[in-house]
Amino acid sequence: MHRISTLLLALLPLAMQAEIINITTPASSYVIEANEGKPLQTLYYGSPLSDAEAASLRDAGIPGRDTYPAFGNWPENETALSLTHPDGNMTLDLAVSGNASTRTAKDGGRIISIPMRDRHYPVEVTINFRTYPGNDITETWAEIRNDGRKPITLRRFDSAYLPVRRQGDTWLTSFYGGWANEARINNEPLTAGTKVIRNTDGLRNSHTEHAEAIISLDGRPAEDHGRVIGAALEYGGNYKLRIDTDPSDFHHFFAGINSDDASYRLKPGETFTTPPLALAYSDTGLGALSRSFHKWGREHRLNNGDKLHPILLNSWEGVYFNIDEPAMAGMMSDIAKLGGELFVMDDGWFGDRYQRNTDNAALGDWTVDTRKLPNGINGLINEAKKNNIKFGIWIEPEMTNSISRLYETHPEYIIKAANRTPIEGRGGTQLVLDLSNPKVQDLMFNMVDTLLSKYPDIAYIKWDANAPVMQYGSQYLSAEQQPELDIRMWRGLESVLNRIRAKYPDVMIQACASGGGRVNYGILPWFDEFWTSDNTDARQRINMQWGTSMFFPAIAMGSHVSVVPNHTTHAMTPLKYRTDVAMTGRMGFEMQPSRMSKEDYAFSAQALKCYRDTIRPIVQLGDLYRGISPYDNRGVATMTYVSPDKSEAVYFWFRTDTSYGNRLPRVTMKGLDPEATYVVTEMNRLPGSKNLPFEGKRFTGKSLMTIGLEIPAGTNYDSRVFLIRGV
Ligand code: DGJ
Repeated sequence: MHRISTLLLALLPLAMQAEIINITTPASSYVIEANEGKPLQTLYYGSPLSDAEAASLRDAGIPGRDTYPAFGNWPENETALSLTHPDGNMTLDLAVSGNASTRTAKDGGRIISIPMRDRHYPVEVTINFRTYPGNDITETWAEIRNDGRKPITLRRFDSAYLPVRRQGDTWLTSFYGGWANEARINNEPLTAGTKVIRNTDGLRNSHTEHAEAIISLDGRPAEDHGRVIGAALEYGGNYKLRIDTDPSDFHHFFAGINSDDASYRLKPGETFTTPPLALAYSDTGLGALSRSFHKWGREHRLNNGDKLHPILLNSWEGVYFNIDEPAMAGMMSDIAKLGGELFVMDDGWFGDRYQRNTDNAALGDWTVDTRKLPNGINGLINEAKKNNIKFGIWIEPEMTNSISRLYETHPEYIIKAANRTPIEGRGGTQLVLDLSNPKVQDLMFNMVDTLLSKYPDIAYIKWDANAPVMQYGSQYLSAEQQPELDIRMWRGLESVLNRIRAKYPDVMIQACASGGGRVNYGILPWFDEFWTSDNTDARQRINMQWGTSMFFPAIAMGSHVSVVPNHTTHAMTPLKYRTDVAMTGRMGFEMQPSRMSKEDYAFSAQALKCYRDTIRPIVQLGDLYRGISPYDNRGVATMTYVSPDKSEAVYFWFRTDTSYGNRLPRVTMKGLDPEATYVVTEMNRLPGSKNLPFEGKRFTGKSLMTIGLEIPAGTNYDSRVFLIRGV
């Protein structure tokens, strides 16, 4: 059970009453001390404490750290908040100014808010914590309010600060990568100095670095042991995470909106609310930490995260911009025959005066190109209906091209600094629309609204974004608002997405941004899933999906079978390996099926059936237990997905090295019920493959998890999928 307890330490004189607030989830306690007239203090974040234990932290000599340190007094320390008062004073001196209040959210979650006020200036800072029923996530964020009569300037406005007591061997896990190389894992010991993880793209905030980090307190992070803290900043714009190891006893972790080149003018009476930081704690390693984020992601952060996702064919790698009616019809009929459920028409379907034949024109001109599609979208929808599948469509609403009707009529809608020539991106002509402008917000909403209301049978949108903010400046914002551009762009997008979701709650929307540029809990609430990467190479996908799975559930991970040679890496991976990897996420296809050989077609059809009928619910709605990591160079990578009641599991085994004669480890499964009896059956088998000796035999969960199974080493690029079913 999650609970928030506050207890007054009654022995103290009334004026000095200290309130110990114990914010608990099943696996964690976050303990703060609210002492009226003093700064709010953080005492503890770790495994769950009883209220009595929380109350005895001070007796044990545990020092408190300011929960939300502000710049001013002792300015040499890192701080979460920094501002300038109207009279030029740059200091803050915050103290708890009232009682903590708790309220219940619609989903049964509990929110606790503790107010602080500056001792002299009319600035109020409220610190909030939120828990979710049955979940192991604690969110925290700040609200900064100007109670005065003149504007104040916020110069740093982090979401949260977490003091992490030094343990002697503390590690940081962060994620980095770029286009076609997303979510690489970086593990490093935390040493003296400051480590910064940040994004400045303006839109695609999980290219370059990622807004999530893990701090491991017991040395190098491990899957099944050790104390670990996971943190995910829920923000779709530019962010900055930093961890400062100063000469004190602590590593100081800060996370928030990136304020390097931003500031915010807070008007009288206005409240600035920071995005939340989601925290989870596990004392049994990374696996449990990831499962906490996955469960919360499915239950509370993804749109419809608890419903199975369809198996789809996306047209991009199959035809690129060569969209036309016969090609689309052929693809629809092929994916339907294969047993798929949805077809998505990617880029290239729109443009009238300017045609979208390559990436240099027509973004913003969202009219169907009837030279390519004479019967329009309705023609395609009818075709989808004939094939008994659903229809989806690609759009890139935040962008235009300098070759477009939109830009010709509204050059003032683009992001551009005054007195500068705009910088153009993809195709030499791509421009970013200025979402801080309400007219641009309306334009964007109307575009999506028109599409979805005119064609109510559109079941899925692939929402792309293929450029960063390339020149800092808004033609809409006033001179003094220019430093607020990133923040206002993000708020503009949020408001458009809110309007879309209010009207179309159930249309599936995929967050794509040059591949995996929008894998972030700030953007996901409006989206059902994300496109993990434009790199569909199965071998590299194992690593990318491994990294992505640290925080994000399999149901959200678009994972498609594509052709060989792979379009990005040119690797020649067997079809079975490609389909097995695709099955570890939300499986789909990214190819022109008409070019498949008969054998490949037949193999894919049975693979798809096997995923749809058996594997999908376990992978998409079950719990992931990662096994041998592809990062550990042990020759294989393994993972077990287990149904919530542990009655079924799917075990994936991938060879990851190519050398002959390399001895591979015997592998064990994870997450099963040790007392239950299971039967193992190979799935997605190669035609003519022989039964392995252990197939059809009975094993206890315990023996599968301790002795494991001896899987033949096979050859380069071998892979296996086993169904482990309780009897
Ligand atoms: C980038 C995406 O990541 C691709 O999947 C594809 O949709 C292209 N954009 C289309 O331009």
